[in-house]
Amino acid sequence: KKVVLAYSGGLDTSVILKWLQDEYNCEVVTFTADIGQGEEVEPARAKALSLGIKPENIFIEDLREEFVKDYVFPMFRANAIYEGEYLLGTSIARPLIAKRQVEIAHLTGADGVSHGATGKGNDQVRFEMGYLGKDSTLTIIAPWREWDLNSREKLLAYAETHGIKIEKKGKKSPYSMDANLLHISYEGGILEDPNAEPEDSMWLWTTKPEDAPDTPEYIEIGYKNGDPVSLNGEELSPATMLATLNKLAGKHGIGRVDIVENRFVGMKSRGCYETPGGTIMLKAHRAIESITLDREEAHLKDELMPKYAKLIYNGFWFAPEREMLQAAIDKTQENVEGSVRLKLYKGNITVVGRSSESSLFNPEYCTFEEDAVYDQKDAAGFIKLNALRFIIEGKARKK
Ligand code: ARG
Ligand code: SIN
Repeated sequence: KKVVLAYSGGLDTSVILKWLQDEYNCEVVTFTADIGQGEEVEPARAKALSLGIKPENIFIEDLREEFVKDYVFPMFRANAIYEGEYLLGTSIARPLIAKRQVEIAHLTGADGVSHGATGKGNDQVRFEMGYLGKDSTLTIIAPWREWDLNSREKLLAYAETHGIKIEKKGKKSPYSMDANLLHISYEGGILEDPNAEPEDSMWLWTTKPEDAPDTPEYIEIGYKNGDPVSLNGEELSPATMLATLNKLAGKHGIGRVDIVENRFVGMKSRGCYETPGGTIMLKAHRAIESITLDREEAHLKDELMPKYAKLIYNGFWFAPEREMLQAAIDKTQENVEGSVRLKLYKGNITVVGRSSESSLFNPEYCTFEEDAVYDQKDAAGFIKLNALRFIIEGKARKK
């Protein structure tokens, strides 16, 4: 038996690694991805070696460009938001990790895959929907649903007796966190009281808005086919674009949210998120769409969006219906090009300009001044026929 484990190198997944070796007697392959979580991934190699993993069974990969180009950007073409607030930072990363785990299983001849998500959350669903969508013959092992190491103390005790070194530097964060290039999330701890405001020190990526610079900063984002391709005139790769926007927005205190959301498995969950670059991208994308999309195209797209966002939240990234919606969304982006100017100031983003070669904002028609193309008399019939039902109903009810 051989199992590919999504391995961070941290305590939890190190305990899982050992547990898989002992409990399942299986050969473990570790997979550690850099998706922009901001932690070094190389230390996971030494850690895995120290736990008896063979060098050829250790996979460490930089997936940052793929993550942004093939997952984050397509999602932002849809302006996806779950329940009006959540930019889906964790939800969109899980399918990529799952996909790559399955590929590594095929490369190494493994017959199982394993992850460190609990049995109470969304992540287990996203990982496993990914595994099953890519190869339904693999055995799935979710240790958190099986073992009884369900407290910090038990986990530490297990580590102790099994020779897993615990890094004592710095004290452990009181929050359950997840980070990648798109966001960092905080759950648990004092956040389990939905009425308690988190302390300032929780937020790691953004300046507190009231402490942000007193002078606003202007930026310009260039778009092509619905994707941001340049910043202040300089072309940037997808991952560099998002990383750079994260820095800019973070400095100006942009992108914090504090919400209670509905998990797919049923319970509510309080979460705080920092999505600095993503918050700019959403605003800017809507601005460029505002001059390049047809009205009905834009409105239909907005109606589909909650459905699309829910598919991603619930772990259906590789489902045919998500791909079907994506094809429709991508079709709308053919002329979504041009540039957007934005002002960043103390937690706010203001769009101050937008322009495009494909703009549908036609001054001939749009002007409040005299024009030569639009006959105002046409509006009278337009309104009358739209109100025809009222006219007929009015007569019927009069008696
Ligand atoms: N509630 C968010 C979501 O479902 C964030 C999950 C964070 N995951 C984690 N393992 N800390 O997408
Ligand atoms: C977890 O349960 O592993 C994290 C929270 C979630 O997946 O929703």
